[in-house]
Amino acid sequence: MSARVAPAADPAAIAEAATILRNGGIVAFPTETVYGLGANALDVRAVARVFEAKARPSFDPLIVHLAGAGDLSTVADGRDPRVARLAARFWPGPLTLVLPRRPAVPDLVTSGLDTVGVRVPDHPAAHALLAAAQVPVAAPSANLFGYVSPTTAAHVVEQLGDAVDLVLDGGPCRVGVESTVLSLAGGAPRLLRPGGVAREDLERALGVTLEVAPPAERPLAPGQLLQHYATRTPLRLLNGRPPDLTSPGRVGLLAFTPTPARGYVAVEVLATDGSPVTAAARLFAALRRLDALGLELILAEPCPETGLGLAILDRLRRAAARGA
Ligand code: TXA
Ligand code: MG
Repeated sequence: MSARVAPAADPAAIAEAATILRNGGIVAFPTETVYGLGANALDVRAVARVFEAKARPSFDPLIVHLAGAGDLSTVADGRDPRVARLAARFWPGPLTLVLPRRPAVPDLVTSGLDTVGVRVPDHPAAHALLAAAQVPVAAPSANLFGYVSPTTAAHVVEQLGDAVDLVLDGGPCRVGVESTVLSLAGGAPRLLRPGGVAREDLERALGVTLEVAPPAERPLAPGQLLQHYATRTPLRLLNGRPPDLTSPGRVGLLAFTPTPARGYVAVEVLATDGSPVTAAARLFAALRRLDALGLELILAEPCPETGLGLAILDRLRRAAARGA
């Protein structure tokens, strides 16, 4: 048996998905970043099913998704004035705020931390689902633990199949990389994961400079585990433009912009326009296509480290760390 898939634009499908969530089931749904695998965040048994479906270690905390910033107080303490400022500027959108949590949130969602990650997704189907379910929805990316995040419903079905009660198909995700995770819990803001909101935009809104917290400083964001977002095929991140290959081999190329490089079995170009925004939207699907070819190696060309380029490089470095 394989997963049931329904069009995310169909109000009947949204109503059914909301009922499933309210009854303790799990639903994969599109967001502007990647597909999420959702459960009622206040229902421990439902959340446990999400971990089971993903084969995810339970020490990795989940992001809680809300229909609007007005629902924040159920799950988090949002009294910090920076919360209102950031919410007004970036929600709905690809920004996750890590805030002090409320007691209603089960330990399984936060993996026992005294903080919770929350965001308001910017996608009509995600919004409709959250509004109809009337519960906060804990949702990690809808992939097997450690693998590349899904940006289409087909990606979800391939990996999670009938472990999910319903998959809402909203087409390809617009942003294509996961949300930026920013911690406001305890003093200076800390960038735990670069993502769909550019660091530069956050810096402007907060009036501070932000460094990406090094792994040692973010033991509490295990989504930052090195070797996350990895393909099964070994991947190496190049230092510059792709070389011509001279020795024969089954090598694929993930190029940032069009390239004359020769000798590759397959080439995926992420951005003919040179924009990291375009590249981010295509990144995970391109990695999955290359990974399906049974290659010996994938070489990846770096992109500029500005805007969404920071998130792309972060994902590629992690993919490259696998087996390194
Ligand atoms: O765009 C996204 O964020 C997607 C969509 C579905 O919303 N979700 C996503 O979830 O990427 P996930 O579980 O794959 O990654 C969540 C990240 C992890 O790095 C996790 O460690 C971090 O958020 N996180 C969640 N709660 C946290 C907390 N209380 N403290 C620190 N990091 C937290
Ligand atoms: Mg993930």
